[in-house]
Amino acid sequence: MRLLWTVLGSALLAGACCPDCPPVLHPDGSINGTDASAGQDAGVSARGFRATGSAIAMTADDSAALFLTFRTGAQQGRGQTGVAKYTLNLTASPPTMTAAGSIDDIGDAHQLIIGPDNDTAYAASAMGLLKLTGISGPNPPRMALMTDVGAEPRGMALSPSGALLYVASWMDGTVTVYNTSDLSTKSTIDLNRTLAASGLLGPNISPRPALAHPYAVAITDNGDSNDNDETVYVTEFFSQMIAGVPIADDRWWDIGRQGIVYRFDVATETVKAPISLSARMISDPTFVDSETFTTGCFPNQLSASAIHDGKLFVAGTCASPRGPIGPVIDPMSGQEQGTSNFKTVVHPAIWIVDTASNTELPLASALLSESYQQRFDADQVPDDQHRRMPLDIRDMIFAPGTNDLYLVARGADAIFRISYDANASAKMASPYFIDLAQAMPRPGTLPRGIAISTRSKRALVINEHSRNVSILDLDAQSVLVDAEIGLPGAVGPEQRINDGHRDFVTGLGRWSYLGQAWSACESCHPEGLSDGVTWFLPTGPRQTPALDGAFSKNQMNTLKFFGWTADADEVSDYEMFTRRISGGVGAIVHGMSSPPINDDRIVFAGENPIASGQVQASERDDGINGSTANLLPSGGSRVKSVVDDWDFITAYLQVVRPPRSPSNISMSDVAAGLVLFVGNNCVGCHAAEEWTISRRFYTPSPMLNDPDPMHGVLAMGTYMARGLFPAGINPPLDRTPMPPLRTPGAQDAMIECILRSVGTYGVAPIGVRVKEVRDDMQTASLGTDGYNPPSLFSLGVSAPYLHAGNARTLEELFTDTFAAHSAAFPVMGQMFPGSGDRATLVRQLIAFLLSINDQMMPENPPQQINGFSPLLCPLQFP
Ligand code: HEC
Ligand code: HEC
Repeated sequence: MRLLWTVLGSALLAGACCPDCPPVLHPDGSINGTDASAGQDAGVSARGFRATGSAIAMTADDSAALFLTFRTGAQQGRGQTGVAKYTLNLTASPPTMTAAGSIDDIGDAHQLIIGPDNDTAYAASAMGLLKLTGISGPNPPRMALMTDVGAEPRGMALSPSGALLYVASWMDGTVTVYNTSDLSTKSTIDLNRTLAASGLLGPNISPRPALAHPYAVAITDNGDSNDNDETVYVTEFFSQMIAGVPIADDRWWDIGRQGIVYRFDVATETVKAPISLSARMISDPTFVDSETFTTGCFPNQLSASAIHDGKLFVAGTCASPRGPIGPVIDPMSGQEQGTSNFKTVVHPAIWIVDTASNTELPLASALLSESYQQRFDADQVPDDQHRRMPLDIRDMIFAPGTNDLYLVARGADAIFRISYDANASAKMASPYFIDLAQAMPRPGTLPRGIAISTRSKRALVINEHSRNVSILDLDAQSVLVDAEIGLPGAVGPEQRINDGHRDFVTGLGRWSYLGQAWSACESCHPEGLSDGVTWFLPTGPRQTPALDGAFSKNQMNTLKFFGWTADADEVSDYEMFTRRISGGVGAIVHGMSSPPINDDRIVFAGENPIASGQVQASERDDGINGSTANLLPSGGSRVKSVVDDWDFITAYLQVVRPPRSPSNISMSDVAAGLVLFVGNNCVGCHAAEEWTISRRFYTPSPMLNDPDPMHGVLAMGTYMARGLFPAGINPPLDRTPMPPLRTPGAQDAMIECILRSVGTYGVAPIGVRVKEVRDDMQTASLGTDGYNPPSLFSLGVSAPYLHAGNARTLEELFTDTFAAHSAAFPVMGQMFPGSGDRATLVRQLIAFLLSINDQMMPENPPQQINGFSPLLCPLQFP
C-alpha cells in the first residue's frame, strides 16, 4: 500500500511534502483518512430544511416538492425553465406525485430553495429573484414578490433562521444578501475585490465586474437561533493561477493552478482570505499517461458544495490539460492498444475544507475517478458499462442523519453514494451508483438535482433531458417508480436540440471510453461555454472557446470557422475529440453494436492501417478536409453513419445562449467603450453578428474541401489584398501575392485567408507561462500564420484570454505586451488606445467588451480602413 496522491499545490508552497504518508487504502474500501475537528451538520438542518439551493426541493413533512422544469430547445430553441409543484405521498406503495400547479416560464434558472416555514420558496432566474408562497397544502404556489438579481444567478443558500438569502451572480462576481421578508437587498458582497486583491490575477488590477465567478453557496448551522455566528462559503467556479510556482517542468501544466473558496461571516460580511484547494499529482499507475508521465490535475468548475460535520465538501472537475492525448495505436492492426490518456482528461473530485481552520484537508479530498477505479479493480467489477465515473456533479447532499453523501452525476445519468466516517475517510460500496437511465418505463437522463426526505428513506431526482422525476429508495439503493410528471415531451426541432444537449453532456454510451463517463463535451465546455483551461492539443496549446459564438443567432446556418487556427468547418468535425480525447466510439459509425465498439467506426482521418471491422470513407473528411457532415445520415456519402447524433449536437450548438452582461457595469463606460472599439478599428476583425469576421464562406463537400492542391476547389482558390493590407497581419500574403485559400495537403490544414497574426504566438506577460508545443509537449505548435479572430461573446466568463491563455485578464490583454494586437489596424497617427488617460480608456473598452451579447446590435465590418479592406476571404465561394 502506498500514498495515492502526491499532494502538491499548497504543500509545495508551504515547503512541505508528504512522500511517506501512512497507507491510506483500507480493506473496507475507505480511503485517505485524516484528522478533522468536530462540527455541526448543515446539509439538512436540525429544523429539517435544506439550506442550500438545488433544482429540486421538498418540504420537511414530505408533503410537497417544488422543482425547476427544464425544457431545452423549447421556444424556437431559446429554451424554457419553469417551476412546478407536486404534492407527494412517499409512504404509499408505490409512492405518488400529483401535479399542483406550475409557473411555466421564469427565464433561465439553476436553483430554488424552500424556507424553514415550509411554505415559502425562492428561485433565482434570468427574470429576477422570485418569492413563492403556498408551497405547503394542495393549492398551486403563488408568486408573492419579485426583485432584481445579479446577472447569471447560480448558487443560493438561506441562513439557518431563513431570514437571509444569499444568491451568487456568476457574471457580476458578487453575492447579494436579501432580507427574505420583503426581498429587500441587505447588501452586495463584491468578490471581484477579493480576487483582485489576492494578486492571483496579476499586479495592478483594479476590481471590476466579472473577475470573480461565485457559484455554489453553503452556510454553516451551529443549531442555535442566532444567524450572526454563521459563516458563508462560496466557491469560485474557475481555477486560478498559483503565484510563483516552483516547478519548471511540464508538470506545471497539470498542477500550476488551484481552486478558490471565498468565505465571510454572516455578521460582518467581511470577506476573509480565500481558501485554496490544491492541485495534485496522481501516482496511481492506472493514470500514468502514454508517455509514462505521472499525471496531475487542478481544481476547476467548482459546481456544488455542502457542509457536514464541521467540513465543507466541494465538488468539481479536476482538469489535466498536459499532453499527450489520444490512444496509442498498434502499428500492425490499427487497433487502440494504449488507452490511459482517455483517463487523464478530467477527474470528478471532492475537496474537503475544515471549517474550523478554514484550510483544505488535502488527504481527505479525493479524486473520484481514482477512488472508483481502485474500488472497481479491488472488487473485480467487469471493465465495461458496469463501471461508471461520477461525471459532471451538479448537486450533492448528505442524507439527513447520516454520513452518506449523494452526488448527482449529470454526465453519468446516475446518483453516487459516498459514505464518510468521522475522519472524512470516504467509502464507496456496492451498488456503486444508482442507474437512473435503466429505470423503466421512462429512464431518467441528465439528472440535475436531488432532494432527500427527512422522514422516509426516499429521494427525488429531477432529470433535465428526460423531463421527469425519479423516486429513489435509499434502503435498496434503487429507483422506485419513475414518476410521470406531466411535462410535455420534446418533439420536432425541440427534440433534436434536447437530444443534442444530452449527447453533448453525457459521457455514457458512445461518448467516452467504454461508455464509462470519463469525459464529455460539457467537461470542457460547461453550459456550452468555456472551462478557462488551456489544453495541449495536436495543433498546440488551446484555450477552450465558448461555443455561444459558433453560430449566428439569427441565421442558424451562418457559422464561423472553428478552432484557433481555423482548422475545422463543421460541428461534426469534433467527432475526432470524442474519439481521441474522450476515447468514445463516436457517432460516425456504420454499425450499432450494443454496447458501441470501435469496430463500428467509419474512419476518415487518414488512419492506416484500418482496424478490422472499421469501414473507411472514400476520402479524408477530418477538419477542413472533405466533409464529416457528408458522412451523416443526411449527407451524400456512399459510406454513411447510421446515427444522426451530430445533427442533434449541431442543432444544440446553434442555440447556445451567450450569457447576460454584468448587471453592475457602468452604462456610460459601455457607451464610451463602443466608441473606442469602433475608433480603434477592432471592427476590422471583430464584427458582425458573432463579433468576428470569421465566417464560413462555402458549403463543405469532399470535392470542394479536397486537400489535394491539384484537385481541391478550395485549395486551388486564391485570395489577395485589396488596398495596402498591412504587412505581417496575414503572413501567407507576405510570402506570395495570391496565396491559396487553404493550406495545401491534409496535414495541419487551415483556412489561410481568415488568419490574422497579431503578435501573440508565444507571447506572455511576466508571471504567465505559454509553451508553444503540441500535445506531445515537444513539436512546435501551429499559429505562426496567425489566428482565427475569436467571437467576443461571453468574455466575462472565459478568462484567461487568447489561444494559450496568454492574458489573465482583459486588462492584461490591453497592456503594451499585446500592443501588436490592439493596434493591429492602427488609427492614423495614434498608438492604442489613443490620447487620454489610458486607464480610463481601457476601463471603458473592457466595460463594452463585457457587455457584448446577442441582445446587442452588432457592428458591421468596415469596407475600408486606412485605404485597405480588412477582409481577405471571399464572401461566397466558389
Ligand atoms: C478536453 C477539452 C475539450 C473537450 C472534451 C471538447 N472540447 Fe471542444 N474545444 C476544446 C478546445 C481546447 C477547443 C479549441 C480547439 C482548437 O483551437 O483547435 C475546442 C473547440 C471546439 C469548437 C470550435 C469552436 C470555435 O469557435 O472555434 C467546437 C464547435 C467544439 N469544440 C465542440 C466540441 C464538441 C461537440 C465536443 C464533444 C464531442 C467537444 N468540443 C469536446 C476543448 C474541448
Ligand atoms: C487584425 C485583426 C484584429 C484586430 C484589429 C483586433 N483583433 Fe482582437 N483578436 C484577433 C485575433 C486573431 C485574436 C486571437 C489571437 C490569439 O488567440 O492569439 C484576437 C483576440 C481578441 C480577444 C480575446 C478573445 C478571447 O476569447 O480570448 C479580445 C477580447 C479581442 N481580441 C478584442 C479586440 C479589441 C478590443 C480590439 C481593438 C482594440 C481588437 N481585438 C483588434 C484579431 C484582431
